[in-house]
Amino acid sequence: IGYVGTERGDDALEVLLGGLSQLEYRGYDSAGVALADGGIDVHKREGELSALKSALPMDRFGGETLGIGHTRWSTHGPPSDVNSHPHTDTDGQVAVVHNGIIENYQQLRDDLTDAGIEFQSDTDTEVVPHLIAQYRDEGLDHEAAFRAAIDRLEGSYAIAAVFDGREAVYAVRNESPLVLGVADNGYYLGSDVPAFIEYTDQVIYLEDGQFARLTPTELVVTDENGDKIDTSIKTINWDPEDAGKSGYDHYMLKEINEQPTALRECFRGRLDELTGRVKLSELGNLEPNGIVTFVACGTSYHAAMVGTRLLQERGIPAQAFLASEFNLDTVPINPESVVVGVTQSGETADTMRALREANSVGATTVAVTNVVGSSAARETDEVLYIRAGPEISVAATKTFASQQAALTMLATVLSGQRSRELVQELRAVPDQIQSVLDTSSAREIAETYHGSDAYFFIGRGYHYPVALEGALKMKEITYTHAEGFAAGELKHGPLALVSADTPVFAIVTGDGRLAEKTIGNIKEVEARGTPVVAVTDGQSNVERYADHVLEVPASSSVTSSIVANVQLQLVAYWTANQLGRSIDKPRNLAKSVTVE
Ligand code: G6P
Repeated sequence: IGYVGTERGDDALEVLLGGLSQLEYRGYDSAGVALADGGIDVHKREGELSALKSALPMDRFGGETLGIGHTRWSTHGPPSDVNSHPHTDTDGQVAVVHNGIIENYQQLRDDLTDAGIEFQSDTDTEVVPHLIAQYRDEGLDHEAAFRAAIDRLEGSYAIAAVFDGREAVYAVRNESPLVLGVADNGYYLGSDVPAFIEYTDQVIYLEDGQFARLTPTELVVTDENGDKIDTSIKTINWDPEDAGKSGYDHYMLKEINEQPTALRECFRGRLDELTGRVKLSELGNLEPNGIVTFVACGTSYHAAMVGTRLLQERGIPAQAFLASEFNLDTVPINPESVVVGVTQSGETADTMRALREANSVGATTVAVTNVVGSSAARETDEVLYIRAGPEISVAATKTFASQQAALTMLATVLSGQRSRELVQELRAVPDQIQSVLDTSSAREIAETYHGSDAYFFIGRGYHYPVALEGALKMKEITYTHAEGFAAGELKHGPLALVSADTPVFAIVTGDGRLAEKTIGNIKEVEARGTPVVAVTDGQSNVERYADHVLEVPASSSVTSSIVANVQLQLVAYWTANQLGRSIDKPRNLAKSVTVE
């Protein structure tokens, strides 16, 4: 958030803290503010916003009119006071807040270190204030120094900066959201509208590559060359109560819709189209000897099943355990073993116990997690971050997609595979998901079937874990019985359950052997008068046997299962919505379960 008021006596601190509390859903591992009134006054703390508030010397404030604030979701460096934003240069000339990932930060940091600059934090962000200060020292004015520094960055960013001398807030955006607010009492910026909706509903959405300068008397938006842009002001008609959901009714729907962005972040700097290589720079040299063992719970276990198959297909033996079933007495683990814990939160007690047991016998442990600085990230030998951003809804959605994508990259690296085709397929997934989001008829399916007795989900190969995940989503948020089966298993028992009131969702992509066999299983269901909904890319003739079709773009089997799953997320969401369930906080469930 950033704010510049028009009159002395406006209380910038109050505006910043109020805005941050609205943005806390975007990240809550640390928070900070910088007030520029003469010099720059920076206060920041690890922990929730309340920790910052109680540490602020309130009696020292009053009447500031300009400042920036940040609430952090770590991507580089664990949560700590020094890693919190704002970051400053050595002399405290400039303070910066940043969302996103600066891909070339290591090179920039090395260059700055060679020039004698001492870094205070582990973050990628800290290169920005040092670069700006370097250009200032060369004689550039504030705006020119800001632009010159931004010009050096590669990656995604929404950045706001203030200088000592209380004159303006500077901002820029590239692939990270940034919105400006226009009010009678001043100008605002935020990574989302809730930051300032209490004060104004007049907003300007900044585009990639655009810069903004906010002063008490004007707001100027410019392009990369510094040329002024005429922007249009939009009126937002959200209820401030719901603003954290960016206008969506539920966090779950918002997070389902965030999947294209989450996946782009997951891939950022890791895929090379030219060589077909995947680069996971944070991972050390992992050399699996023997079986790679995955441990995980819930949705993460379904991702672990995908990971297992990905490795097996590449000639690396692998097995997946529900973490609560993993036990050193029955699973032979030794110092040569690699044990991978897949956990969104990085805190699940069952998964942590399994990882700790693996650590205790000297195995190499790896965490595939969303939360920087989580227990899993701290206690394992290696960490692969899925970079999905905070997930608020209890039912996991975008993090499952990002786990599948991250595990595909991990399998590629572990097997030494190079494949331009696979890299291109991965790159295509965000757009494919977007097309599903734009065209899905899941809502109509939900309207037709929301009164059903039960729901069944079937798939083969990579679609089998997705069938399990489809059923888990349905159970979690609709409170209706749902089961996922390997399509071939249906005839070995579950077929006794199907009836006209138990729709079967079948995931069928491609036109190969697995598709053919699943179509055979669909015919068995159809013959018993049971409605069939096919999730398909249209390559087989499954629609001839299905009552409804949920379309997905054609792609390879592993990437198509990531995309197909989105249709099932939407079916579960709209069904729960029809039933009036508590979608974001289903009964009896918790986001992070820290007991065994
Ligand atoms: C809880 C949540 C599930 C989640 C599971 C594992 O049970 O309700 O949605 O899949 O924990 O969580 P993790 O953070 O380890 O992925």
